[in-house]
Amino acid sequence: MSHNINIRKADQGDYIHAETISQWYLRSSQERGTGIAMRSAEYLKTKIENGNAIIAFVDDALAGFCYVEVFNSGEYVSNSGLIVTNEFRRMGLAKKIKKIAFNLAKDSNPEAKVFGITTSDVVMGINSDLGYRPVSFSQLTQDEEFWKGCSSCKNYDILTRNEKKMCLCTAMLAPSKNEQMKLDLEKMIIQPTKKKDE
Ligand SMILES: CC(C)(COP(=O)(O)OP(=O)(O)OC[C@H]1O[C@@H](n2cnc3c(N)ncnc32)[C@H](O)[C@@H]1OP(=O)(O)O)[C@@H](O)C(=O)NCCC(=O)NCCS
Repeated sequence: MSHNINIRKADQGDYIHAETISQWYLRSSQERGTGIAMRSAEYLKTKIENGNAIIAFVDDALAGFCYVEVFNSGEYVSNSGLIVTNEFRRMGLAKKIKKIAFNLAKDSNPEAKVFGITTSDVVMGINSDLGYRPVSFSQLTQDEEFWKGCSSCKNYDILTRNEKKMCLCTAMLAPSKNEQMKLDLEKMIIQPTKKKDE
C-alpha cells in the first residue's frame, strides 16, 4: 500500500505534537535499554520555535522527528533526536528525515562540521551514507550545552567517569558544507571526468 509521506520543517502549529514526541523518547529508552537522552516537550518546542526541527507525517499521522543544534558559535552543528514511531519503522522514513535535517544543518551553518553520537547501528548506517565517519569524542564539540543533553541518559555516569572522552555511543562527524565543496573540487581536479569517447 502506498503512503502519503510529508516531511517538513516543524513550525509553531506543531507544538501540539511535542508531548507525544517526548513520550516516544521515553518509550524508546525503555524498549532499547541502551540509553537514549530524554527530551521534554518544552525543550522540543524551543527547537521548533527556532526553525531547527524536522517533522514527518504518514497519511497525516505523526511519524517522526529530528532536530538541529548549533554549538561553539557555529563551529559545530548536530543532528539529534532522530526518532520514528514504531508503527512507521522500516519504510525508509529515518533516512529521509535525516537527509533533510542534515541539509538543514549544513545549509544554515556552512562552516560547521556536522556531528552526532549514537548507539544505533541503523543510525550509524544512515550517517555513513551521508558522509559521516566515526571519530573519537575529542573531535566533537566540547560545549557543555551539548554534553548536558546526555545527563538524562542512563549511561551518563560512564561518560562523566571517562571525563567525556568516551561512552557507549559512537561519535560520528561529517565535513562542513564548505569543507565538502573543497573536497569535491579537489576530487574533480585529481580525477577529471572521462570524456565520452575515452
Ligand atoms: C533508528 C530509527 C530512527 C530507524 O527508523 P526507520 O524509519 O525504521 O529507518 P529506515 O526505514 O529509514 O531504515 C534505514 C536503514 O536501516 C535498516 N533498518 C531499519 N531498522 C532496522 C532494524 N531494526 N534492523 C535492521 N535494519 C534496520 C533499513 O532496512 C534501512 O536499510 P537500507 O539503508 O539498507 O535501506 C528507529 O528505529 C527509531 O526511532 N528507533 C528508536 C530511537 C533511536 O534509536 N534513535 C536513534 C538515536 S541516535
